[in-house]
Amino acid sequence: MTSATWIPLGAVADFPSEAPQRRDVGDHRLCVVRVGDDFHVLDDLCTHGRSFLSEGFLDVEEGVLECALHGGLFDFRDGRAVGTPACRDLAVHPTKIVEGVLHVGLDPV
Ligand code: FES
Repeated sequence: MTSATWIPLGAVADFPSEAPQRRDVGDHRLCVVRVGDDFHVLDDLCTHGRSFLSEGFLDVEEGVLECALHGGLFDFRDGRAVGTPACRDLAVHPTKIVEGVLHVGLDPV
């Protein structure tokens, strides 16, 4: 088993709460969702089409990210597709904070 590589994404203070942010790690485009002190990192590319969740809409009460293109819904905590036309889950990635910097764990390619 190969362990994830931890990549720094930026200072915690650079991620506003309840405002999805795009971060790129090489060619891998990620969507960072911060809700208070909780961080979630998902793949940014919608599994339905060519749209990005970091450009979508966050509904914290419902726990979903809404795709801006067709309105597909994803649970931002675990990536599950929970509203059509999205029907395939998004990949989610582990996070950790080290000395005030958010890190994401990505599998080696
Ligand atoms: Fe996201 Fe269609 S591209 S729901």
